[in-house]
Amino acid sequence: MKEILRILEKIAPLQLSEDYDARNGIQVEGPNVDVTGILTCLDVTPLTVKKAIESSCQLIISHHQPILTPLKTILKSDWYGEIAILALKHDITIYSVHTPYDAVEGGLNDYVGKLIGLEEMYPLQHHGGDLNSPHGMGRLGKLKEPVYLDDFAAHVRESLNASTLKVVGKGKRMIQKVALGTGNGLALISTVLKSGADVYVTGDVQYRDMRGMVQNGMSLIAVEHDDTEKFFSKAMGEAIKRFLPSMKIVEYNDKFYHTLN
Ligand SMILES: [Fe+2]
Repeated sequence: MKEILRILEKIAPLQLSEDYDARNGIQVEGPNVDVTGILTCLDVTPLTVKKAIESSCQLIISHHQPILTPLKTILKSDWYGEIAILALKHDITIYSVHTPYDAVEGGLNDYVGKLIGLEEMYPLQHHGGDLNSPHGMGRLGKLKEPVYLDDFAAHVRESLNASTLKVVGKGKRMIQKVALGTGNGLALISTVLKSGADVYVTGDVQYRDMRGMVQNGMSLIAVEHDDTEKFFSKAMGEAIKRFLPSMKIVEYNDKFYHTLN
């Protein structure tokens, strides 16, 4: 276990955590057992832990932290409590890498950027304000050729297999420079507006902010939060395999809502 935790620190150094996101790393600490399987996921629920037990995984690596606010009690009847109880009972460690994996070079933003066809990507917001840092939140990239906004939006929907998609801006507008912010896109909006991007692709924006984008002349393509971040399980699995090629990786994401056409 300890060796894998050291590898995780190489994959996504915890010092890349954003200030508002301090609870990265070990969330539930199990014993230092031999790890024969790792479950990777976006969210942790009691079902996720049960899946890890079933598939003999001693470590769960999630993007979102299951425990964000301080727990006052650990009760089976409370799902956060149940997660901790189940994990500890079965010697399972839960480790979360949220903003460090968003920010790190080769992390989630780069993974999703490649999926939607971005090239020459660099951070939208360099880590610590250091312009030489290859890490940071969001990405700015270019499409190989200029395309219509609506055509690019259709490409985004297909490449992310997104359940919903909203477009703000004129469909026949030509775009090439693309800003990307996986997950919640709110924190990056002001940076995007100054970045010279033609369009902002993100996973979560509020109505009011969409209005603001229009007023600022910025186009926007918004999909669901998890439609940008469900790739965490695959991307993290591949990253671990680069260090431990024979490690068993179980990817698990439960789609807990559905959309109607
Ligand atoms: Fe997220």
